[in-house]
Amino acid sequence: MKIIATLTVFLSFGIFVNLTFAESVGIIKYRQNVMKSTGAHMGAIVDILKNRLPLEAHLLDHARSISQNSKMTLAMFPKGSALGKTKAKADIWKNWSQFENAVNAFVRESTKLVKIVESGDMKAFTKQFRTTGKTCGGCHKNFRERD
Ligand code: HEC
Repeated sequence: MKIIATLTVFLSFGIFVNLTFAESVGIIKYRQNVMKSTGAHMGAIVDILKNRLPLEAHLLDHARSISQNSKMTLAMFPKGSALGKTKAKADIWKNWSQFENAVNAFVRESTKLVKIVESGDMKAFTKQFRTTGKTCGGCHKNFRERD
């Protein structure tokens, strides 16, 4: 009875209505994998820039991958996907429009990064890469639990 009462409270808040536990766990794993790949592409760009690897031709594909991932981000956080081992804060769904803004900034800046790398201006690229990186932190600061 206690469990039912608790569930009723959650349901009345409309928090856990959309997904089953298994569905939530599934999407958490998925978004963590996509985030990891975003992190890996950012890291690969740092490797190229920092160590002056003769792989500048790869920058475009890394930037494109990040930009593609950015466009997947909003859909990876459906309402109710906080059940399971996640670092996503409940604030995401409480402050959805703020979260949307953080996603939009990520999409905007990473898409700009693609445009700039296509122009071949390395100085502008480095600058825009930093700006893109700030959109990661900008979201994590508010919406991801610390390690
Ligand atoms: C709009 C918000 C948002 C943006 C923008 C964002 N992230 Fe995340 N990121 C999250 C949240 C929330 C989690 C926690 C997901 C979870 O545990 O369910 C996360 C998790 C991660 C993880 C850990 C994945 C794991 O193994 O659990 C990495 C790495 C990561 N993000 C890298 C990045 C990088 C790099 C960028 C920018 C290029 C970025 N993120 C942009 C919200 C964001």
